[in-house]
Amino acid sequence: MILKIAKLPGDGIGPEVVAQAVKAVDAICKKFGHEVKYTYAPVGACAIDQCGNAYPESTHQVCLESDAVLFGAVGDPRYDNDPTSKVRPEQGLLAMRKQLGLFANIRPVETFPSLVGNSPLRRDLVDGADFLCIRELTGGMYFGEKGRLDGGDTAYDTNIYHRYEIERIVRLAYDYAMRRRKHLTVVDKANVLESSRLWRQIAREIEPEYPEVTTDYMFVDNAAMQLIRCPKFFDVMVTENTFGDILTDEASCITGSMGLLASASIGEHTGVFEPIHGSYPQAAGKNIANPLATILSAAMMFEYAFGLMEEGRCIRKAVTASIDACFVTEDLAAGGTPARSTSEVGDWVADYIANN
Ligand code: IPM
Ligand code: MN
Repeated sequence: MILKIAKLPGDGIGPEVVAQAVKAVDAICKKFGHEVKYTYAPVGACAIDQCGNAYPESTHQVCLESDAVLFGAVGDPRYDNDPTSKVRPEQGLLAMRKQLGLFANIRPVETFPSLVGNSPLRRDLVDGADFLCIRELTGGMYFGEKGRLDGGDTAYDTNIYHRYEIERIVRLAYDYAMRRRKHLTVVDKANVLESSRLWRQIAREIEPEYPEVTTDYMFVDNAAMQLIRCPKFFDVMVTENTFGDILTDEASCITGSMGLLASASIGEHTGVFEPIHGSYPQAAGKNIANPLATILSAAMMFEYAFGLMEEGRCIRKAVTASIDACFVTEDLAAGGTPARSTSEVGDWVADYIANN
């Protein structure tokens, strides 16, 4: 197969971790006889520096013409500390999600048996936890009308959802639940928010179409607690954009490191595969960031974008082997094991793929 991949490393540690995922992708393609063509395109702060736009039209074209987008991270402290800035790196990511119609963000939360000791949560709580968080990605407060009033002293963001947006993400979540343990948790704040009441109303309408799936409805504040009180309760969770952003950072604690959580964003056009951890500017250029979330995102790319399940499985196996061998970066190294660099871990994983 010929695989056309748009390579968007972005900012901070993005280029370092994407470079390691590329090593894994190359190793897989060599092993399975695929031809891969990468096209680089700028996004985020580096795109602003080049042309004043965090998601230039030329980058959008590259994405549209590719079969998948391998994405690193966006963000830069130059903008975080300047709330008056008109352009922001994060706008690049949001514009990309919107323009590619990527309404579903799938974030698997799985524990690695040899890492359960790394979680701040008790071993018996996290051991065996395995669920999917499905976050709506192109609606809600992120994209609703926002602005300032009263000469700037009043600010608002609108949390708006349309029926079609809720229907398509809830159906997608049910489809995933059907392929798993058939348990869906719909997370909302229907006791307070009108938009959440519409979510719950529509989910209840769709529920009878999936009689085999057990559905429960949970308020987001309670869900935040249940996630750490009893993570094994969850199989598939579906929620709106902002709640999903917050809950998935929280969920990364279950696995022991933010550096392990991968994601797939899918919808109308080319899918985007990215780690959830962000640009981590303090570590940029130091060759210390954990590349495994990006490598696992590449595994999701093979499965979701190309339908190449065996290739995806092979990448996962290599990642698990590196963890079992304690060949890991400083966020995971414990108890006297030396911390390896980003590129050393990338090389190890690529070698494992080539030789196993
Ligand atoms: C994420 C990130 C983004 C988001 C930021 C960088 C805009 O935190 O992918 O979770 O809030 O969606
Ligand atoms: Mn986030």
